[in-house]
Amino acid sequence: PVDSKEYLKCNKMRPVVPAKIKEKLRSFFLNDRTLLEIQRRLLIDINKGLAKNTHDTAVVKCYVTYVQDLPTGNEEGKFLALDLSGAGLRILLVEFTKENVEIRSKLFSIPKHIMLGSGEHLFDHVADCVYKFMKEENLLAETLPLGFTFGFPVIQKSLTSGILRRWTKGFNCSDVEGHDVVQLLQNAINRRGIEGHVKVLALINDTIGTLLSSAFQNPDTRIGVIVSTGTNACYLEKQRRAELFDGINMGSGNVLINSEWGAFGDDGSLDFIRTSFDKELDDYTVNPGKQLHEKMISGMYLGELVRLVLEKFTKEGLLFKGVGSDLLFTRDRFPSKYVSDIEADRFGTYTNCIEILEELGLKQATEQDYINVRYICECISKRAAYLVASGISALLNRISESKVTVGIDGKVYKYHPHFHNLLVEKISHLVKPGIQFELKLAEDSNGMGAALIAAVAEQYNII
Ligand code: GLC
Repeated sequence: PVDSKEYLKCNKMRPVVPAKIKEKLRSFFLNDRTLLEIQRRLLIDINKGLAKNTHDTAVVKCYVTYVQDLPTGNEEGKFLALDLSGAGLRILLVEFTKENVEIRSKLFSIPKHIMLGSGEHLFDHVADCVYKFMKEENLLAETLPLGFTFGFPVIQKSLTSGILRRWTKGFNCSDVEGHDVVQLLQNAINRRGIEGHVKVLALINDTIGTLLSSAFQNPDTRIGVIVSTGTNACYLEKQRRAELFDGINMGSGNVLINSEWGAFGDDGSLDFIRTSFDKELDDYTVNPGKQLHEKMISGMYLGELVRLVLEKFTKEGLLFKGVGSDLLFTRDRFPSKYVSDIEADRFGTYTNCIEILEELGLKQATEQDYINVRYICECISKRAAYLVASGISALLNRISESKVTVGIDGKVYKYHPHFHNLLVEKISHLVKPGIQFELKLAEDSNGMGAALIAAVAEQYNII
């Protein structure tokens, strides 16, 4: 995050954006009244997800996980973790000793043809990467417990099984929806011939990983949030309020709930704030009508929303003297990283903005264009941050403890220069008086969390 004094100064001395452009972007503005209404609707949906008789039709599913215990900080041992949550596949070797935690990890890519190919092909690719990692790290003579972070909506029946409900975030592999992803992973591990060396001990959502890894350092963590390729949150709920919880109470009386808040709005409850750009974007995604909240917030979509606005304003003659470029008019050619970079330019300078516009072939851009482009980015990323703030404050109010740490991770949160500040400012407006909160970046959280839950599972011999 940037220096907050400088940030405030920027806000006061903002260069002038033409009224016509401001007016056209008004639909992206969410005032506190609207955010409180969104918060209210989300809390209703969370109740629907948790209750037995409304769960099936609920859009915010609030899946019960089988994680009840938060780490104590005393975990020990050597674990493998696999993180399949976004565009890449990360494999980690995590060693907890009394003194410290050592992590070695490697990121493998998942090519688009695999993301859209057969499930068998996807899991063979995963098993192959596990094999390569183990070979490089000289682990093929050992048998290691493995924690599997899978960042998609899964219906869990135990800590070691989970049925994929539907793909999100651009994945669309055949024959995985409706199947147990641990079984699919295990089958691929068997096909790769390394079944004697890895033992899958736990399956968790990536938000659960974030919460667990944050709890390892901050015992008062109750919420885990991801703002990355997708967005989602999980939180610690009382077992008696999670009507679908059918596990054995291991003592804490709590259970972690994976909210899947990305699907909030899929029944129309966010239509009152969706803009024509949101609708246009949704139309050509692989999952139209689904994950509508996520499509206003996460890294997979923010840049594209900005691009759609730039395209429209250019065609209306409001930007670049009405002359665009092939790249500007091509889908998905404006990654969310551009939004972060443009907003990271120091006040009054436009270095990143100029470079990006040049990359897009918009050499004719003037200083007024830079000012306008930056303003467009700000409107869209601010709306995203405010929606996340409304969601986090809903959970804080529901949990209603006086002091809570929120573990948070993800590319948008980490790399957008103002996201953290915007969240803190807005959550403070939206939480009930008397609730203190802290947002803490949980680094490497998906993998760490998976290793931690494998450690907890092994310790309690849960499986
Ligand atoms: C999507 C997935 C969800 C995941 C989130 C963040 O919303 O459905 O399971 O937690 O992305 O990666």
